[in-house]
Amino acid sequence: MATVSQERATRRRQRRAPQKGTKRSKVAFAHPSEAEFARILDFYGVRWEYEPRSFPLRWEGERIVEMFTPDFYLPELDLYIELTTLKQSLVTEKNRKLRHLRELHPDINVMLLYKRDYHRLLAKYGYGPLAHEDVRGIERVLITVDELERRITELGQQISQDYAGTEPVLIGVLKGVIPFMSDLMRHIALPLSVELMSVSYYTGDAEGVRITKDLDRDIAGSHVLMVEDIVDTGMTLNYLLHYLRTRRPASLKVCTLLDKRARRLVDLPLEYVGFEVGDEFLVGYGLDYLEKYRNLPFIGILKPEQDGRKPRRPSRRARGKRMEKKESPK
Ligand code: PRP
Repeated sequence: MATVSQERATRRRQRRAPQKGTKRSKVAFAHPSEAEFARILDFYGVRWEYEPRSFPLRWEGERIVEMFTPDFYLPELDLYIELTTLKQSLVTEKNRKLRHLRELHPDINVMLLYKRDYHRLLAKYGYGPLAHEDVRGIERVLITVDELERRITELGQQISQDYAGTEPVLIGVLKGVIPFMSDLMRHIALPLSVELMSVSYYTGDAEGVRITKDLDRDIAGSHVLMVEDIVDTGMTLNYLLHYLRTRRPASLKVCTLLDKRARRLVDLPLEYVGFEVGDEFLVGYGLDYLEKYRNLPFIGILKPEQDGRKPRRPSRRARGKRMEKKESPK
């Protein structure tokens, strides 16, 4: 055990040493791989602290002669991380220290991350050398995999309570809704059915939305929950709600993962909202840019164009034309 004076010395060092995350530029990293790791944690919105704490490992009399300072602490996971290089001599030494640390502080959650684990971890989130190319177009992650999982679980629980005793019909609009619908329905503990619709935006004499795939069943008298990945201008939802009302459901409510209020043209009541988001171009978890990025497991912000301009969603008119073309056999 450390003496009072040793503990004080350690605390003093700790007060000086902590270098909290988010201000990455102010942290003097000992190694470039640490700076890279911090950048990736920022990218994924994971809070971190750099070398916030030193653990005494060995004493000679009153004097601490060996300490171990893990590279990172991730407060949300209550996890210390030590990065390693591929140099075997360093790895062996770190392993020894870690074993010793675990013996002295069994309550500490600490992990040694080898380069290959590190790359595997990144690949899991669609980043790094093992990941696919798509993620290069992403500026940063706005909503992480964990945040999505947590919030969708809450939504599912809420819906299960509110619809208890009924068999709701969940209706989604292709294609962006696929991941959200699939995760949400697995968190609703009720017998339910699922319907998918498809719409296209057309131009010409009468511009507007057109249903290209209708419901497969009658929803008259059913409790209907319209599921959307994002409500942006509100035009699509407005059209669909009008349409669905003509099919005489017992009730009709909306659950959207994202609410982009800043761009709303038609104000509609949204009973269940996962996240309110700003006016940024979002991709991933079903959302696309020119049909790409839908398969990213998180929601990210698309990088600005090379000339610094914000990427723009193709206009409804353009999308309509694109879809009309696709649908035309000519
Ligand atoms: C998205 C989303 C909504 C709609 C919302 O679909 O799935 O249905 O836009 O936009 P609004 O509020 O401005 O009407 P999109 O047309 O991009 O098609 P997709 O789902 O196939 O990507």
